Amino acid sequence: MSAIKVEQLHKRFGDVHVLRGLSFDVQPGEGVVLLGANGCGKSTMMRCLNGLTPVSDGKVWVNDQCVQTASRREVKRIRQQVGVVFQRFNLVGNLSVFQNVLYGALGRQRWGILGAMAPLASAEERDKAMACLERVRLADKAAQRAEELSGGQQQRVAIARMLMQEPEIVLADEPIASLDPKSGREVMELLWDVVRERGLTVICTLHQLDVALEYGERFIGMKAGHIEIDAPRQAVDKALLHGLYQGQVRVDGQTVSEPQETHDLAPA
Ligand SMILES: Nc1ncnc2c1ncn2[C@@H]1O[C@H](COP(=O)(O)OP(=O)(O)O)[C@@H](O)[C@H]1O
Ligand SMILES: [Mg+2]
Repeated sequence: MSAIKVEQLHKRFGDVHVLRGLSFDVQPGEGVVLLGANGCGKSTMMRCLNGLTPVSDGKVWVNDQCVQTASRREVKRIRQQVGVVFQRFNLVGNLSVFQNVLYGALGRQRWGILGAMAPLASAEERDKAMACLERVRLADKAAQRAEELSGGQQQRVAIARMLMQEPEIVLADEPIASLDPKSGREVMELLWDVVRERGLTVICTLHQLDVALEYGERFIGMKAGHIEIDAPRQAVDKALLHGLYQGQVRVDGQTVSEPQETHDLAPA
């Protein structure tokens, strides 16, 4: 069984052929770092994995269930198995840290009806949310508004929210790109620790090669919409990974890699 399997995945946005036949297979519990220059298609690929973006051709399986042929209800269930961590945290700033964790991860609920459903949280769910906050060492901030926290703290809340969902697979798209180096390191350390202690499968994009080499157990490197490298940690070094950022790297024909625009996993 695979946690994620992708076969001949193609994605086009109009004339732009963004994903050009990707195939790979991720085993349960694997820790994959996804690398590639800006504009090579990483975020688009991540969005295809949990059905947020429809594929143009090819197939994606999550826990051996095909996302393209799944019913709407099955896609919902697949998404509940896939936790996401975004570059921009995506917390609801004016709600408390606790509420963000308690309600944010429940894929089936919408923020619009939050007021109506708030009293429905069971004591058990509230305890669980608190335990998730304790795990990211922010229990003391539970009552504070999310927007009052530092970037690093907000990303730790987002990790607690992800844990609340009890996913089997975690997709993290540039989780530390908006943070200063020190809090970025702390967040990465925490993310990898919680993923490891629960035996979760993770695919994480990063743009700092040093950090990537520290955490990745397997590296998938993309260049201009195709997979250039797929290798275990021991088979890659910085020089090899550097090659991903040279030459024709983007999918849209531009020759330079522009500074990172933020394309999170959220639907465009
Ligand atoms: N919703 C969209 N509509 C049109 N083009 C898109 C859309 N999303 C991404 N693209 C294009 O796909 C290419 C790859 O983008 P992206 O997947 O965000 O790359 P990366 O995450 O590697 O920087 C870019 O040229 C981008 O402009
Ligand atoms: Mg991206």
